[in-house]
Amino acid sequence: MELKIRQATLEDIPEITSVFRDTIRAINSKDYSEKQIQVWASGANDLDKWEDRIKNNYFIVAENENRIVGFAYLKNGNYFDGLFVHKDYQRQGIAIKLMRIIESKVITNGYEIIKSDVSITALPFFEDQYYSVEKKQKKSFKGLVFENYIVYKEL
Ligand SMILES: CC(C)(COP(=O)(O)OP(=O)(O)OC[C@H]1O[C@@H](n2cnc3c(N)ncnc32)[C@H](O)[C@@H]1OP(=O)(O)O)[C@@H](O)C(=O)NCCC(=O)NCCS
Repeated sequence: MELKIRQATLEDIPEITSVFRDTIRAINSKDYSEKQIQVWASGANDLDKWEDRIKNNYFIVAENENRIVGFAYLKNGNYFDGLFVHKDYQRQGIAIKLMRIIESKVITNGYEIIKSDVSITALPFFEDQYYSVEKKQKKSFKGLVFENYIVYKEL
């Protein structure tokens, strides 16, 4: 697979949001309830929020043959706010590549620590990449409670 990683543009929003929706439905569904998955995936429809994320964060996409197969974004210099890989491209090293670029950006931004909130589904991946759990938390989103983990790594 030939992966190209580049910064996202507003034209990518339809593809990014479909990766987001499909990955949550297909992959995160093993760790969260049907209702939680429905509400979480509906975040794909909040187009103003995606536009804001692309404009105001460091937002990168991974492409294979002109198709977006993963994306990641960094908020406020060192907060790793999102990482999603296409449901049909899991376990092919795409998340690691995106993470390396995000981590390099954090170093360039002058920070020594990267932080994130990660899903139950993504925790094994982050632990595998030497992130430590600061705490398990319950986060509210659209009236539902989601369990996830605050993690960090010294770079
Ligand atoms: C978590 C996620 C981003 C990982 O993406 P990925 O591209 O499949 O990960 P990689 O292929 O780069 O994984 C590299 C290594 O991390 C580890 N790893 C990845 N996923 C793992 C899992 N589910 N369980 C245990 N280890 C895992 C493995 O060591 C893997 O190497 P291997 O496949 O050779 O064993 C992806 O599963 C995903 O999109 N999950 C759903 C969305 C999500 O929850 N994102 C976080 C939101 S906060």
